[in-house]
Amino acid sequence: FGEQPLRGRTVVVSAGPTYEDIDPVRFIGNRSSGRMGFAVAAAARDAGAEVTLVAGPVSLPTPHGVRRIDVRSARQMHEAVLAEASAADIYIGAAAVGDYRPLEAAAHKLKKADGAPLRLELTENPDIIAALAARAKRPFLVGFAAETSALAAYAQEKLRRKGIDMIAANEVGGGKGFEVADNALHVYWRDGDDTLPEMPKTELARRLVARIAERFLSGSGT
Ligand code: C5P
Repeated sequence: FGEQPLRGRTVVVSAGPTYEDIDPVRFIGNRSSGRMGFAVAAAARDAGAEVTLVAGPVSLPTPHGVRRIDVRSARQMHEAVLAEASAADIYIGAAAVGDYRPLEAAAHKLKKADGAPLRLELTENPDIIAALAARAKRPFLVGFAAETSALAAYAQEKLRRKGIDMIAANEVGGGKGFEVADNALHVYWRDGDDTLPEMPKTELARRLVARIAERFLSGSGT
């Protein structure tokens, strides 16, 4: 496929966690650092693509030559990704989107109530990649799946349920996946799979993007 298989293509990558506000000073978040998504954005740029990175709250520098849109909540990410990715060639959903948000964010800081339990009511967030999959005209869709067990089964089930083209699965927990520099991935698509063994996330991102480009180009007939 040559040095720059994605030359002339547009790629949207989401990265990082989402923060769901409870009140003006508290939120529900997760341990995603955004490093894998940022590395994927840089690798897609190196593969020749024009890259837009939709980033949740992370403290990472923007990869050179990449357009970045910062968001905070899952709903903001949903809005930004749908606006940016609908006309893109490829969407890579590397963000750890919060599944739930408080039904209502309190306008004032919540107070303690003399030892009585505090109940937060949560409501489900939109599934961003599944929303893209449901569109008639949609980009080639790549999801991530972070699992603590039964990697292959969950990943393949997710691929089918969400109606996406590829899924990159990694094992998390016990010092793997989040907040670390190295990672390993198992990549699944409808009729194949591939193992990318543990290596630095930057190198892993390059290998993953090469795989994505190969599958995307074989499907687009170019
Ligand atoms: O269902 P699960 O969160 O494990 O799926 C992970 C994949 O789905 C990731 O690619 C993630 O970015 C995407 N996702 C999403 N919107 C959500 C939840 C997950 O796009 N609300």
